[in-house]
Amino acid sequence: RLVDGVRVFSLDAQEGSAELLPGIQTPTWGFNGDHLGPTLRAARGEAVAVEVTNRLPETTTVHWHGMHLPPAMDGGPHQPIQAGASWRPAWTIDQPAATLWYHPHPHGATEKHVYRGLAGMFILDDPAAPAFGLPDRYGVDDIPVIVQDKRFDADGGLVQDSQGNEIGLLGDTILTNGAFGAVQEVTTERVRLRLLNGSTARTYDFAIDDGREVALVATDGGLLEAPHRTDHVRLSPGERAEIVVDMEPGSDAMLISRPPDLGDVLLPGAYGGQDEFEVLRLRAAPALQASAQVADAFDSFGIDSFDATRTRAFEVQNREINGRRMAMDRIDEVIELGTTEIWEVTNRDGFPHNWHVHDVQFEVLSIDGEPPPPELGGRKDTVYLEPRRLYRLIMRFEDYADERHPYMMHCHLLLHEDQGLMAQFLVT
Ligand code: C2O
Ligand code: CU
Repeated sequence: RLVDGVRVFSLDAQEGSAELLPGIQTPTWGFNGDHLGPTLRAARGEAVAVEVTNRLPETTTVHWHGMHLPPAMDGGPHQPIQAGASWRPAWTIDQPAATLWYHPHPHGATEKHVYRGLAGMFILDDPAAPAFGLPDRYGVDDIPVIVQDKRFDADGGLVQDSQGNEIGLLGDTILTNGAFGAVQEVTTERVRLRLLNGSTARTYDFAIDDGREVALVATDGGLLEAPHRTDHVRLSPGERAEIVVDMEPGSDAMLISRPPDLGDVLLPGAYGGQDEFEVLRLRAAPALQASAQVADAFDSFGIDSFDATRTRAFEVQNREINGRRMAMDRIDEVIELGTTEIWEVTNRDGFPHNWHVHDVQFEVLSIDGEPPPPELGGRKDTVYLEPRRLYRLIMRFEDYADERHPYMMHCHLLLHEDQGLMAQFLVT
């Protein structure tokens, strides 16, 4: 809806009931429906506003994950929406085309709110950017793929307890866009999948079951500099990737998740490191429409490390960042507007964590002193932290100075976030 030149979206967070498993009704939460939420879509340069209404029985928030925006619009724990209340953030889209998402972020309850079904995609377009031959017909050859794991009890309800697992709840059932056993009909030679790991704790390693290579074209914050041919893409909670898959007429391709390499963790099996799932069946029509050739190179970008004026170190251990848990009334870092910083982040535990920073897209400069692999060569807002490795990240803080409203940095394993593995920074 366009109102006076502003693109206005409405999101009602509500309770519902959905048939997640065949023939069984499961109590769920959703935006504008029973489960998950609509895909929001806006273009670079556009003014947007979202009318969020909370029809849930408890306080929630809605955060725009990956979005560059003023901190008061960010939807973190400092923008609570009480039950029955509304909130109307507004900002201007000012970043490259990308696959972002939105989800609740209430302090201490994010895991459960997301797990019950509150999540949706937020796609950004850049009308000024070339098309690069990328499939772009939404629902036809450009497909959102929200992947989540669930565990059901005997009555069909969602098990919401992590059952003692250090990293949170690992489900035994994969839902893709909320559907079990999901199938996508394909009518074109190439299909672009916008993969979102919307799980609370599980890391996936996406692949096609026959091992074919796909073109990884984009990560969290937009296109890579060039497509990267690979046969698998690991995504930890909150991360996104866009892949282009070549199809054969009349023959299916199954998107699966292989057992992910979680790095040097103790007991990988306890954290999903041995699990394998079917995620989405791509069912090709007997004859396929021709697709454009994907370009060999996209635009280049890059933050120059000579511009960095400050380095900060963050040690992640247990539920703490540098020995402290999140406190709502404590600002942990103050950053000067317009500066570039290098953050050195290390997971000191023998189990998975990851690292998400609000407002910015960072770049991975190195991992243990080595250049990052191609799949980590683009703009990122969330990165998996293999144990005991030093991730050097570079980022610029621009446009939005605010003395009062902080942004968050945290582990996106949502149980960890809820338990305090989060810190706050001001940009002033
Ligand atoms: Cu996707 Cu601070 O969150
Ligand atoms: Cu963690």
